[in-house]
Parts: sequence; structure tokens; C-alpha cells
Amino acid sequence: MKNQQAHVILILFLLFINITLQLTAQNIYKDSSVPIEARIKDLISQMTLAEKIGQMQQNHLSKKNDEVFNEIKLGKIGSFLNAGDINDKFELQKIAVEESRLGIPLIYGRDVIHGFKTIFPIPLGQAATWNPEIVKLGSAAAASEAAEVGIHWTFAPMVDISRDPRWGRIAESCGEDPYLAAKMGSAMVEGFQGNDLSSESSIAACTKHFVGYGAAESGKDYNTTIIPERYMRDIYLPPFKSCIDVGAATLMSAFNDINGVPASGNEFTLKRVLRDEWKFDGFVVSDWASMTEMINHGFCADETEVAYKSVKAGVNMEMVSQSYANNLEKLIKEGKVSEDLINEMVEGILRVKFRLGLFENPYKQLKEKSRTLSAEHLTAARESAEQSFVLLQNTDDFLPLSKLSKTIAVIGPLADDAQAQLGCWSPDGDPENSITPLKAIKQLLGEKTKVIFAAGLDNCRSTNTEKFAEAVTASEAADAVIMILGEDDLLSGESHSRAFIDLPGAQEELIKTIAETGKPIVLVIMAGRPLTFGNIVKDVKSILYAWHPGTMGGPAIANILFGNVSPSGKLPVTFPRTVGQVPIYYSHKNTGRPPSENQLGIKMGTPENPVGFASYYLDVDYTPAYPFGFGLSYTTFEYHDLKLSSNEILMGGKIEVSATIKNTGKYDAEEVVQLYVRDLFGNVTRPVKELKGFKKIHLKAGEEKVVTFSLSTGDLAFWNIDMKYAAESGDFTLWVGGDSQKGLKADFTIK
Ligand code: BGC
Repeated sequence: MKNQQAHVILILFLLFINITLQLTAQNIYKDSSVPIEARIKDLISQMTLAEKIGQMQQNHLSKKNDEVFNEIKLGKIGSFLNAGDINDKFELQKIAVEESRLGIPLIYGRDVIHGFKTIFPIPLGQAATWNPEIVKLGSAAAASEAAEVGIHWTFAPMVDISRDPRWGRIAESCGEDPYLAAKMGSAMVEGFQGNDLSSESSIAACTKHFVGYGAAESGKDYNTTIIPERYMRDIYLPPFKSCIDVGAATLMSAFNDINGVPASGNEFTLKRVLRDEWKFDGFVVSDWASMTEMINHGFCADETEVAYKSVKAGVNMEMVSQSYANNLEKLIKEGKVSEDLINEMVEGILRVKFRLGLFENPYKQLKEKSRTLSAEHLTAARESAEQSFVLLQNTDDFLPLSKLSKTIAVIGPLADDAQAQLGCWSPDGDPENSITPLKAIKQLLGEKTKVIFAAGLDNCRSTNTEKFAEAVTASEAADAVIMILGEDDLLSGESHSRAFIDLPGAQEELIKTIAETGKPIVLVIMAGRPLTFGNIVKDVKSILYAWHPGTMGGPAIANILFGNVSPSGKLPVTFPRTVGQVPIYYSHKNTGRPPSENQLGIKMGTPENPVGFASYYLDVDYTPAYPFGFGLSYTTFEYHDLKLSSNEILMGGKIEVSATIKNTGKYDAEEVVQLYVRDLFGNVTRPVKELKGFKKIHLKAGEEKVVTFSLSTGDLAFWNIDMKYAAESGDFTLWVGGDSQKGLKADFTIK
């Protein structure tokens, strides 16, 4: 009897211990007071292999049905992209949290690229502001609007360096330069994520596309990239590193083949650089089916090999395709992949879910008073657009136009195209909210000025010239003509590359026809890339490059054209004279036979001597149409008094570089002061110039300011002949100026 009692007591005791252990175990990962790493460990210890693999799957929600519900219930999906409206998101989340065994919340991703409902300028335009603060503000606005509808995670920023305007996705990039892209990309990360990822107004950033995607051969999307390791490290990787350094939660592996190894199976970039060197502890999501496309690349024979190579490289989550879901279990059973590796992959995903606060707040949604399309966001979008516009030409100071003009003709198919101005990758932007240039110009000028509109062409790609006559009549009746031309939103973006980068359709012809009226023309170009338009520059007085400026593009254009604001944008990318010059970028090497000024535009038939054999073209200048960093203002700036705190820097030390900038014109305006450096001789050849600093300053008419940069030898480091990242002693030249081609110049030495 006693024995029996003791037995029962023992069983009860064991049961008690078991229940307590289970409760404690459950409580650890659910307990927000426990450090995240301990919660992750606890949760992983409770997960089955199938549940772990489930976390690694991201699906696109095309339809809600029982199959989807059931998969969530079984823990087979960790994330959705494009998960419908807020009710859909809550419905699916409820199943994940309440009906799956461990209640792990789903993470919802979406392409919130340059705004959500309030669309800001395309990223290339935002980069042209050279103003990280306004860029950060734009991303914060986008994050809060997206957070209102339960989006947790955006697939931005894109920091692919691009030196090829044929590539349609240059629109989404921050341009050609690693330093500028690093500053702009990290500002975007800070804007999206705020100070605290768990805050309701923050969404996780995803720095993409890792890596080299913008180097696609011939500018054709998804094309092969060949990037020597030194170029990879000096040019393509730094913007990613900056984004990781400011805490980017996630990263996306790209579509492209890098030197023979596709990005989503690339152990060098994903493992060695990202994990081992940079210590990235968030997670990597593949780009849409970029893993299974490794079969097309000829890098994997089947989906089993896809899963094997991707997980080995370190892709944590598979977007849309299902090679992990279908193969990882088998690979583990066969001993080809260890469960420890799977744990590592899942840890990264859970870490971000914990950091976002999803375990505490799975129905995370910004619930404050809605800021979507608020006056505050619209103002920020307008200011961002104003600062992004680059004044390329202003003959006879024709701009700004007088608000007292009697009649203005507004010509062009993009003058009143509410959709085109939103640009690529604005899936949630609604053209109904756009204010077009035509509307804004009419509003700004009021009743006193007659504004006559004629599209001139049915759309920007049309070659039908029937409507030219109407545009001519409108122009003849006007004091000045504003032509709003360029590319519609569909001519750039993913898979939308162009082999010709001229103004499409019969637009050049339209300009020439209007120019024949003798009326002065202001040309506003909206586009997702640098275009070539050398044929018409003489036909127009002024050229304002407006990119795709977003919801508030119209008021921003009107404010600039009529002088409420002086243009202050500077080119984040070199503009070629012709597509034949591509790739063309300011930070090129000198070559053994650099051309000189007298070799500009050498004509066919010129004898070899005396011009000599140099690195130039016979049929076009070797110089660009407009250089990187270039942009005019309504005022003039004078640079003087360049001072260096010393002309020698000891290795490991730094100097201060200062210059005085004076606004010598009539308008209050902003100027982007730029610092460039040339390392004259290296153990590997060095670029002719590299951007090392910039500051955007405001100067009232007549005002002057001293701008100071600090330059350390660390800023001058590069990947040297031994593949070490180090600065080298020797001679340098620096320039401080308003673009990459002119500036005050000084020499210094690293000892
Ligand atoms: C693009 C990514 C994007 C993803 C999800 C892909 O086609 O390359 O940039 O984030 O789709 O929409």
C-alpha cells in the first residue's frame, strides 16, 4: 500500500515537474522581459524541423483559401508579401498566433519603395537632393503610412550602384557613387526603422539587391555581372555595409550571376562578407524566385541543389519559390545539411520578428491619428521633389518665369499625367492624389494669367504628329512655353531597360516644331533615368530635370519654375551625350593615354597627328553631357579661401579642409558643397576623383559661410594590391566645389 502511495506521489511529482518545465519553456520565448537571444534559443528548442523550415518560407498571397489557412496552422509559412488589406493580414495572423502550435507571428513584407500613399520622388531623384535629412523624412513618412495598414517590412532601400542608364532599375537606385549611395541608403534605413524597430511607426528595412545587380552587362535587367573582388569591395559593397552599420534588419539576395556564382547561392558575398566580416545578424530573403532561377543560370541541376546551395550560402528565407519547403528535410536526413545550420537560419528570422515586437504585438499597426496623405507628408513630398530637381541649363537666366506673364502655354503629354509622375515601384500610389504640373501651374498663377494646355502627342511614346498643330497654336499665343516631356512611369523599373535613351516617340520633333514659333521654351523632363537630348538643347532656354517626382510633383515644378524656390538638386549620376558612351562615370581611371581638352569632339577625317592616340571617340566628345554632382541654381556661388589644417597627414591622422562659399546672386538658395580627392599613385591604379564628403547649405543672397570637412587617412583607404583595406602614403589632390568637374584645388601628402 505504502509502496503504491509512494508510486503515485512520484508520478504526481514528475507530472508537476514536467508541467512546470513546459510552462517555463513556453514562458521564456513569450516573456518580453527575457533578452531576445534567450527567447530565440528557447523557441528554437521547441520547434520541430518542419516548423523551422516553415519559418524559412515566404509566400505571395494570391488567394485566401483553406489550403493557405491550413499551411499557416501547420507552421509552414513564416511570412507573406503582398498580404492583402489589414483585415486579410489580421485574419491570417490570428491563425498563426492562435492556431499554430507555437503561435509564431507572420511577418508581412511589401515594396514600399519611395512612399506608400504619399509618393515621394523616385530614389534616384531623392539621391539628387544630396540631403540625407529629407531622404530620411521621406522614408519615415512611408513607414508610418505603411504601418497604418499593418505592413511590418519594406523591400527597400535599393543601394545597387548603377553606371548604366539603359538599366530600368537605375530609377530605384541612388546612382553611380558608393559614397553618395551609402549616405542616402543609410538615411532611408534610419527613416524606415526609426530609433526602435518595435515602435508601431517603424517598419524593417531590406537592403537590396545583394549584390552587384546594377552592374548588369549591357544594362539589360537580370543580366550577368562580372565584378573583380577589388571593385566589388571598393564600389558595390560599401553602401550595403553602411546600411548594415545603421542597423538594417534584413537584406535581399539578388538575381544576378556574380563572376559565375549567382547571388542567391553565393558563399563569398553572403557568408564571408556579410556574416563573417560584417557580423550581420538579421536575415537574408531571396529575391522573387531568385533561388530556383539558379537552375536557369546553370548553377543548380534541380531544386534540391538549389536548396542546398542557398542554405549553405546563408539565404534564410525563400521568396515565393519552394525549394526549401520541398527539399531541406531530405537534405538533413541525408546528412548533407546540418540542423545546426537550419537553426542558424531560423534564428536570424526570429531575431527580426522579436525586434519588431511581433510576439508582443502580432497585430502591429500604427493606430495614432492617420498621417496618410496628411498635410505634413504632402509638404515633405513637395519639398523632397523641389530639392531633387536639377537645373541643367538656364540660358540668359530665363528661369524663373515671371508670375505676371499674361499667357503661358503648357505643352506635352506628361503635363497632366497623374500616373506617370508617380514613377516606377509605386504600387500603392493612387494617381487620383497626384497634383499634376498643369493643375499646379494654373493654381499658382491664378486668374490673371491665361494657361493654355496642348498635349502635342497622345502619349510620350507616340509618333503621331497630328496634335502638333494645336500645340503650335497654343505656343504662338503665349509669352513663354513650358514643355513637360520625358518618359512615362512604365519606361523604367524592373525589366524595363532601354537600348536607346533618347526622348521617346516624336518628342524631339515636337520641341523643334514649337521652337520654330520663336517662343522661349522651358523644358521640364520627367524620367526614371538619365536621357540623352543633346539634339534639342539649343532649341530651348532652360532645362529642368524633374525625374519622376511623385504625388506633389506638380506644385514642386510650379514653385521652381516661378521662383518660389531656387533649384538645388545635383546629379547623382553622370549624363552621357549618347548611349554609345555608356558606361560613363566621374570616378573612372586615368588610363595610360588620357585625352586632353583639344581632343574634344574630334571630327571624322582629322589626321592622327597632331591630336595623337588617346582614349577618346572620333564622333563625340569624351566628356559627358552633364557631370556627376552638377546642377545650376538661380543664384551664383563663389568658392574661395580653400584651407587645409595641414598639407601633411600622418597615417592614422586627419586634417580639416575648409572653404568659404558666398552667394553672389540675387536669390536665397541652397548649394551642395562637394569634396573630391585623387590619390595620385597607388600600388593599384586609383580613380581620377572620388567623392569624400558633401554638405548642403542654405545661403541668403549675399551671405557667405565657411564649410569644413574632416578628412582622415581612413577615408582614403582602398583594397590594395594585397587585398588589404588600407590607405597608402603618398601624394593626393583634393577639390572643393559645386560639382565633380570644377572646384578649388589643393595638394596634400600622407606621411
Ligand atoms: C524585385 C524586388 C522586389 C520583389 C518583391 C522582385 O521582382 O526584384 O526588388 O522587392 O520582387 O516584390
